Amino acid sequence: MDEAGTDRDVVRVLLVAKQGTVRDGISEKLGSYYPERADILMFSTVTEAIESLEAAPREFHLALLEQEGQGVILLKAILGIMGGAVAGVITNHPESLGSLSAQERPVEVLDPEELLSGLYRLLKRSATLGRLPPPKLNEREEFVSIGMESLSGLAPLQSDVYARIRKDHYVCVFKKGSILEPADLKKFIDSKRTEFHVKSSEIKETLIQVADRLEEAGRADEVPLEKARSEFVSTHTLLRDVVGQLGFTDEAQKIAKSCVSMALKALGSKPKLSEILEDLRRKEGAYIPAHSFMVGNVACALAHRVGWSSSATFFKLSLAGFLHDISLNSESHARIRDLEHAIRSGLEGEEIKFIKLHPARASEYSKQFAEIPSDVDIILSQHHENPRGNGFPRGMPGKLISPLSALFIMAQDVVHAVLDDPNLQYEDFFRTHSADYDVGQFKKILALILN
Ligand SMILES: [Fe+2]
Ligand SMILES: [Fe+2]
Repeated sequence: MDEAGTDRDVVRVLLVAKQGTVRDGISEKLGSYYPERADILMFSTVTEAIESLEAAPREFHLALLEQEGQGVILLKAILGIMGGAVAGVITNHPESLGSLSAQERPVEVLDPEELLSGLYRLLKRSATLGRLPPPKLNEREEFVSIGMESLSGLAPLQSDVYARIRKDHYVCVFKKGSILEPADLKKFIDSKRTEFHVKSSEIKETLIQVADRLEEAGRADEVPLEKARSEFVSTHTLLRDVVGQLGFTDEAQKIAKSCVSMALKALGSKPKLSEILEDLRRKEGAYIPAHSFMVGNVACALAHRVGWSSSATFFKLSLAGFLHDISLNSESHARIRDLEHAIRSGLEGEEIKFIKLHPARASEYSKQFAEIPSDVDIILSQHHENPRGNGFPRGMPGKLISPLSALFIMAQDVVHAVLDDPNLQYEDFFRTHSADYDVGQFKKILALILN
């Protein structure tokens, strides 16, 4: 199958959905994204689609499959036939798709209740990654939104920055080349406008600027931990804004890797857990980026303590720290440990579904990287499983959780415990929780920590 290119005429789509209204809605949208170019073959069940393709094999660029009423084995079978096509599965039960994550190319999960916006993001990300031709977008969709925090870290601006005045109407508020001062942003803060927009065709320059800045910071002989933290926090915030809309483009991948390398340089090759936890007690930075930094650092310090001190292992753990919650927007969501905690915190319905999905989303992100150790993907998809077997999304038995995932989960536990009780010593934490870790890799790691 050819790779996506601008010269490709027809976008061949396989669409399987039970209801005619769903099929019509999707095909109409695809028709608007690829006018005169979308060639859509529709079926109401996977079985029908398989039978048809077996009788007359065809190649597709995109497969959109509704899970409803279809077994995972059937989905797997049709994805096998699809080869390298971009694949989206429309489902309310993403946790049941666990075994599909072994596909060579990631399967995107599409929420039936946000189907059209999910489809838009899937096409946009796939186009950025060169897997589908760019869809024709309306004006609103040609902008990438970035938050004020991300904007304030960019100097000088690499593109014009816009504010949305009303639906589909944008005005330029800062010119390319400007260096923003706090006073420039004050009137926006006062009017509670915290979202800005950059043309998606121009965001690349901004990302290159940040990647260059991080590379330069990482080249210094020494990187102070404070510098690493503030760069990590601002970089993570920017990427959280951008990758949800564009995916991990080459530039975004470079930024994430450079940021992690810089953080590891600051950490050194022999990070001491007690010193890292001391740093954690300062509680600086917004929760999602700050705890992502700390979870990576604590995981490396734990790894060092148990004798897994290779730079490759540190890189995997730190990158997993960077990516694990990058699809979350809300601090309260990122603080959730397990689904019981979510319910106790008063979350329901859509929010719980979103939280349940985020390990799979993180894993999808890791699959967008051109080169990334497969362990990272496993850590990301397992980071909310737990030794008691009642984690999410899969509720895996503790003994099946991989060694690096177990260590990462323990690092998250320590970070949460120290954030709750700043005086807590990690030895006390592990001693008092030893019964919780009495299974599989957790047990082995605990013995090495307390050794
Ligand atoms: Fe987290
Ligand atoms: Fe998480």
